[in-house]
Amino acid sequence: MSKVIDGKAVAAAVVEDVKAASVRLTAETGVRPGLAVVIVGNDPASHVYVSSKSRMAKECGFASIQHTLPETTSQADLEALVADLNADPAVHGILVQLPLPRGFDSDVVIQSILPEKDVDGLHVVNAGKLMTGDLEGGLVSCTPAGAMLFVRQTHGDDLSGLNAVVIGRSNLFGKPMAALLLAANATVTIAHSRTRDLAGIAARADILVAAVGRPEMVRADWVKPGATVIDVGINRIDAPERGEGRSRLVGDVAFAECAEKAAVITPVPGGVGPMTIAMLMANTVIAACRANG
Ligand code: GUN
Repeated sequence: MSKVIDGKAVAAAVVEDVKAASVRLTAETGVRPGLAVVIVGNDPASHVYVSSKSRMAKECGFASIQHTLPETTSQADLEALVADLNADPAVHGILVQLPLPRGFDSDVVIQSILPEKDVDGLHVVNAGKLMTGDLEGGLVSCTPAGAMLFVRQTHGDDLSGLNAVVIGRSNLFGKPMAALLLAANATVTIAHSRTRDLAGIAARADILVAAVGRPEMVRADWVKPGATVIDVGINRIDAPERGEGRSRLVGDVAFAECAEKAAVITPVPGGVGPMTIAMLMANTVIAACRANG
């Protein structure tokens, strides 16, 4: 049976560090880190995420500014709001919750955020810095940064000689995760839905990271004995499908059987999930310190 990483505890430790940095910045400069979170439309899951982000920002001592816009908002109005937030010196971090409702061009909106306020790490300038190995100069996407903290706590900072396999190639997770692993000297494979022999490739991984959005797709025979398995999936299984009374959350990894083979594994919920918000807070305090350094 493997060691199960307690994501809530690791996230709480990150948040404590962020609070301390926030208090120090305010004491030294009078500046309070400011995080603006923008949500458009009524997607219930997105509203739950955004509320947690705003709540945690307040807990960290930040000025938390939430803009809730109706689905009827135009692309031009949304871009105008981002322009106002870019120009506001009290705002150090801007997050536009994704996905935006149908009809919006998300990429245009994201790329209109100033790179130094892009606490999601999605601007091409930040993605480019990460790709070129400049980990200090930009802002790194929150979920991969959180997953990487688990990897570093398990294996240290140098992953030389280790095979890492990332399943999933999104801009939000797979690509930045692969870049972080590569920057730490791992030998990295990015696998995805068009990959042949996914199971065989996964089974060669010392570090296996799953971000596919398919419930329990990674089975025990995909896991190398002694591997570190990081599960980034959050899938809600509806009650009627399972003949159970309540829906439940599962990851992309079949936890019980994979835990028998892995040395270290993250659970869902309570693994990578809490890290995303913690790293968002970390990026915000970093952006605020850089703006007032
Ligand atoms: N939607 C789901 N995850 C994220 C995230 O990390 N950032 C943004 N902006 N939207 C998301």
